[in-house]
Amino acid sequence: MSGGIAAYKSAELVRLLRKQGADVRVVMTPAATEFVRPLTFQALSGNPVHTSLLDADAENAMGHIALARWAQLLIIAPASADLLAKLSHGLADDLLTTLYLAANCPVYVAPAMNQAMWGKPVTQENAGRLKSHGVQFIGPQAGEQACGDIGLGRMAEPEDICRYLLAPASGPLQGVKVLVSAGPTREPLDPVRYITNRSSGKMGYAIALAAAGMGAQVALVSGPVQLEAPAQIRLIKVETAAQMYTAVMSEASGQDIYIGAAAVADYSPEAATEKIKKQDGQSLLVLYKTQDILAAVAALTPAPFTVGFAAETDNLEQYAIGKLQHKKLDMIAANWVGQETGGFDSDQNALQVFWPTGQKTLAMADKHLLAGQLLGLIAERFHSTRP
Ligand code: PMT
Repeated sequence: MSGGIAAYKSAELVRLLRKQGADVRVVMTPAATEFVRPLTFQALSGNPVHTSLLDADAENAMGHIALARWAQLLIIAPASADLLAKLSHGLADDLLTTLYLAANCPVYVAPAMNQAMWGKPVTQENAGRLKSHGVQFIGPQAGEQACGDIGLGRMAEPEDICRYLLAPASGPLQGVKVLVSAGPTREPLDPVRYITNRSSGKMGYAIALAAAGMGAQVALVSGPVQLEAPAQIRLIKVETAAQMYTAVMSEASGQDIYIGAAAVADYSPEAATEKIKKQDGQSLLVLYKTQDILAAVAALTPAPFTVGFAAETDNLEQYAIGKLQHKKLDMIAANWVGQETGGFDSDQNALQVFWPTGQKTLAMADKHLLAGQLLGLIAERFHSTRP
């Protein structure tokens, strides 16, 4: 752990890793010990905490080289901007940076810092250099920060880090290729305006992460969102419904499963090349129907196992079953939108899942948990219909 307010989350990470059977040893920089006491981590890990490079007693018990040899995996959480800078330049002036240099095991970092610090070109260069050296980044995530800012820089949640680190070598989707769409689309009216919707991408990103956690090879086609895709997911960024159609269709034929969680615009205007000027009276907007990506994927031969979403404000079940049948889908996950909880932008959601021979209700839960449950159903149906 390096120093940062997110250090308190690492206590939960240690607890979760131990719960999964991992043997955990904690190394803290002096700055990290200012945020949380080493005693907390000693109690949670069941092992003495290492804080100093030049502590003769600690070096006798398990020195930095022995620690580096012992570890099968090194996760630095939180990883501050200062720490990333040091690691990327090979500095080794404390136990943690020395351990990194001595380690031969896979190294993961969970960055945590103010969004402006994460966005600074020098931090991005340092992160890029570390990635090119094989360091895997988990996060950061977007959201409200301890300093009051909102943006990318929060440390990934301990549950996500744990799931990422302990992704099973043989999950139910091991080797299966999964394509996910997420987020909104933006349909330009002119060079300065666009039509969009309230999708944050949280549901689609959680699905992509859960699929990767089950061993799938995941590609994610995403509209504009404030989220960062985890390192093991191949991200394809798009903006408009037409771009999303092109991206999905160029990927879809090689995929085993397609999950359309994106809120794709059903209609798009013809974009003016110059800014539309204000005029007296009403202004009429002509909208053209976009191509239905989901229906086009389901109509491929052979088609991937195709899962659609239905976002409804009324008659949820009826509309969802209609879309399942009309678009010839293998499964549809229906959710209420426009309610107080769940749906667009919320961290939680609830789903009613339908397939040609059955249905299941997944109760309101955190979108990551819900994504895992949905992927469980998809894996089951996928294997029983495409043996
Ligand atoms: O992103 P979040 O803030 O986390 O919110 C999640 C969500 C509410 C956006 C998500 O759970 C969801 O419901 N996504 C689908 C939203 C939607 O566009 O629903 P729909 O009922 O209008 O469309 C039905 C299906 O057709 C969807 O799978 C959609 O991706 C697909 N579609 C729609 C139009 C189009 N041109 N092409 C499509 O593929």
